[in-house]
Order: sequence, then C-alpha cells, then structure tokens
Amino acid sequence: MNVTLKNHINTDMDKTKKNNFHPDEMFINDNKINIDISYIINPIEEKTFITTDELEQISSTVIEKNRMLKNGEGDCLDNDIPMLGWLTLPEEITEKHLDEIVNTANEFASNIDAFVSLGIGGSYLGIEATIKALTHTYSNKLHRDNRNDRPEIYFLGQNTDPDFIKDTLDILDGKKIGINVISKSGTTTETAIAFRLLRKILEEKHGETARDFIVATTDKSKGALRSLVEQKGYKSFIVPNNIGGRFSVLSDVGLFGLAVAGIDIHEFTAGFRHMKQLTDNDDFWNNPAMIHAAIRHLSYQKGKKIEVVATNSSSIYQLTRWMEQIFPESEGHNGFGMWVSPSMYSEKLHANGQMVQDGERNILETFIKLKESNNYLQIPHDQENLDGLNYLPENDLSMNFINQLVVDGPAFAHFNGGTPNMTIEIPRRSPFNIGQFYFLMERSVAFSGYLAKHNPFIQPGVESYKKAMFALAGKPGSEKDALKINNELKKMIKKII
Ligand code: PA5
Repeated sequence: MNVTLKNHINTDMDKTKKNNFHPDEMFINDNKINIDISYIINPIEEKTFITTDELEQISSTVIEKNRMLKNGEGDCLDNDIPMLGWLTLPEEITEKHLDEIVNTANEFASNIDAFVSLGIGGSYLGIEATIKALTHTYSNKLHRDNRNDRPEIYFLGQNTDPDFIKDTLDILDGKKIGINVISKSGTTTETAIAFRLLRKILEEKHGETARDFIVATTDKSKGALRSLVEQKGYKSFIVPNNIGGRFSVLSDVGLFGLAVAGIDIHEFTAGFRHMKQLTDNDDFWNNPAMIHAAIRHLSYQKGKKIEVVATNSSSIYQLTRWMEQIFPESEGHNGFGMWVSPSMYSEKLHANGQMVQDGERNILETFIKLKESNNYLQIPHDQENLDGLNYLPENDLSMNFINQLVVDGPAFAHFNGGTPNMTIEIPRRSPFNIGQFYFLMERSVAFSGYLAKHNPFIQPGVESYKKAMFALAGKPGSEKDALKINNELKKMIKKII
C-alpha cells in the first residue's frame, strides 16, 4: 500500500528563527480557490436555477456593498464601534507581531504536555477548525515526536456538559497542562466556569507559579477576565474591539492557539492577505466573494432556506462547522437567514442525502471539495474479486479518485433532482488555503448582511440567551431580567407528558 504522509506543522522549534511567508505567482496559481457554479446557472432541461442575467443584475448592488465596506459605511456598528477591523487586519498585522506570538507560543508549548483552549463561539470554533484542518486526525494519540514536539490539544468551555468536562479532565490528569482562556466580553458563563475549574487544578499543582501556565485573551480594558489578568499577572493577548468573535480567527484570539499547535501563522496570514486583495476588486465576475454572496442571496429569495454545506474531507469538515457559526450568527436577523447544515459525505449521503435529492425543494447545496489529500491511498487488487471491485485497481483508480466522486456524483444527481449546488474547491490542506477560505467566507457573509439590509456584525439573539442564563442562575445585576422571566414562566401552562 502506497501511503505518503504530509503535514503542515512548522517543524522549526528554533525560538529565534522567523518563518515569514511571501508566496510567488507560481504558488498563488497553484493554490487558487475556485467556485464551480455550473449547477447553478446551466440551462439544462430547464433546470437553470439562477440565470447569468440575474447575476448581472444584482452585480451592481454587490459592488456597491463592497464600496461601502471598504469605506467603512453601512450598518456595521456595535456599541458605536464600526466592526470592520477584520477587513483590514490581513494587511495591518505586522510580521513583528506574528513573530512575537510564535515566540511566546513556542516557549509555552515546550513547557507543557497538553494545551487546553477555553472559549465558545468565535472564541473557540476557528481555532479548533484550523487545527483539525491542518493536523493529523488523531494528533493527540501520536507520540510527541510525531507531532513535531507539540503538546496535545483540547478544548473546553464550548459546552456545559458535566460528563464531557469530567472526561476531559480525566484525560488531562497527570499531564503538565497550559491553558489559553479566550473571551472578548470576559463574562461568558461557559468559558468562565471552565477557566475556574482549570485554574483551580493549576493553582493546586503549581501554587504561585500557576500563572506561568495561563494565557488570557480578552478585551484590553473591560470585563471580569481583564480584571483577573491584572490581579493575577497572567500573560495576556488582546481581542481587538472592532472585530467580532466569529471574525476573529486571524487576531490573537486564533493565532496564539494555532502557533502553539505549530501551525505556520505567517503562511495563514498570507492566505488572508491574498484573498483580501482578490476580493477588494470591483470586477464582479472576478471576485469570488461577490459571486458566492450573490448566489446565496438570490437562492434565498427563490425559496432556498437551508444550505447543506458538504465536504469530502473529514479535516475540512471542521471548516463547515465554522461556517455553521459565521453564517447563521451573522445572517439570522429579523426573520431572515439560511439554516446552514454541515455534512460529511459519503456518511451523510446515506442520511440527509435522500432529502437533498428528493425532499422539499428548499435546499441550496454547497460543496467544499478538497482536491488533493495529504495521503495517496491505492485500492488493493484481490485475485478472487468476490466484491467485484477489481475494475478500480485495474484502471489504476485510487481512494483519492473515489473521494472526488463523492462530490461529483451527488452534485450531478442532486442538481437533476432539483437541488442547485456550487462547489468551492480547496486545492490542498495548507495554512495559506485555509486562510484564503476564511477571508472569502467573512467577506461573503458581510455582503450577505448588507444585501439583506441588516447589521451582520452584531448577535442580539446570542446575547439574549446569555442574559437569560445569567438571570436564571441568579447573577447579581440580573434581578430585573429574572423577575421578568419568572413572571412570564408563571403565566405558562406547563404540560409534561
Ligand atoms: O461571534 C460572536 O461574537 C460570538 O460567537 C462570540 O464569539 C461568543 O459568544 C463568545 O463570546 P466571548 O468571546 O465574549 O466569550
């Protein structure tokens, strides 16, 4: 069996050596993210879903939204701050700052067995998605040498499940752990509780020096976490106040954890920067973010209320979970917004695939297709051929070939069944490509909010649940909300069957 293993971990543990990344033209051409819209615009058997004319018509509006974004205009304020820091960050972030993060992360990583990243929503998903997209599926199970001398990596704070938390603590027991607690507001319940639990463990083990194993990423001046940083003297990073959680993976929120995992954050940043330049341009047909946003917007107007985002790569699957956050949290306003359903194919083809092919015609499908896997896997020849599969090795067809078909096959079949679909092609798993992908989606969702005439950079719905939880838990300062909730609850007739 021919298996080659590649990974995208920065093997350079020399703490002084820098790894700046400046792609040349050949690299850029070889790492182009394409969007195939054939199954959206093709007039086969009257199955055209969106016509080229319709795209032409909406193009001037999308170009105008791009102009507004670039000029800092439009509905983009959160507490009077324009939340557009993510848009210029790829060009503003300095190599010096990236080097500082890498140096801090390398030192931190070299002192611990396990790294625990604490956070939820935008303070969690991008970090996990990127690490999963770029490292070995069972990274924590590998010998440290095979992880390029990096610690095991865990996540807590993203849920409140006592069993999940205890099981994770069991796995961490006996290991030398270091944590990064991330919360922009500094008050999110789930993250704060996880931090209290881990802090206690660290303080019991190390006493005064527990602080050496804690890095906090939060607002520069406000919130409970910032107060803790000041009182306890933790090393800290800052969440920029003009970047919302789900747009923050390129800020210190994401970069420190990625650098601890050994991911080349210079290359990652270069991917963002390249996609920024590509999507700054006002030529609609050469701007993938504009086309992506226009298709999603027109699809919604034509009754597509669900977007199945399907991929052929279990590593890339984590990016579809990140999309499940950034799109609904930014688009779900005032009765508007598509439900995003992440799907790993083939697995889900044997489940919701039936619905996509044949159920209610309210689905747009977006494939995130990984073109080149890290490994090449041949299908073995079997003399007996009882399973009838020998035509594959005889035709020199590999697992890699079959894995392309789990996009190409459903794309054709689903289109013919009445589900329009587009395919975003990621050439290979690299920090540059994941960076490009993130920025493409960030810009597209910003257009989407502007096209739907709402502010995509706030999340009042998410804040509502946070407030309700504070009130129900009796948090001081939430008394009024608690009274209101309890009065509402009293009016309800409880029916349990
Ligand atoms: O995108 C967002 O703003 C949210 O998903 C936040 O990231 C999430 O609610 C976590 O908030 P915080 O970082 O304040 O703990």
